[in-house]
Amino acid sequence: MALYDPDPRSLIHLLRDGIAPPDGEPARWMPGFGAILSDEQTVALAAYLRRYGAAQADWPDLADAVRKGKE
Ligand code: HEM
Repeated sequence: MALYDPDPRSLIHLLRDGIAPPDGEPARWMPGFGAILSDEQTVALAAYLRRYGAAQADWPDLADAVRKGKE
């Protein structure tokens, strides 16, 4: 579960690119929100989900990971 991962990159990737089942397989799907979320909004959303969705300590490197994930 990405919210519990010590590394925030899985959640950032999931929020931006969504979830797609492997080719041809019927499975659950989630749209990506990368096209409509600014970096600032992505940081805010991930921090919110981490704290209130998982009750885990803040990711210290979150803003950095969001910025770097686009390079
Ligand atoms: C701002 C809106 C949304 C946020 C912040 C969000 C966030 C998340 C998160 C944090 C997870 C857990 C990923 C994990 O297992 O680590 C997840 C899973 C999922 N989301 Fe979203 N989601 C959003 C909108 C949507 C929408 C619109 C859909 C479908 C129409 C959707 C469908 C799913 C599905 C199918 C899963 C996988 C559940 C599973 O297999 O356990 N999500 N989402």
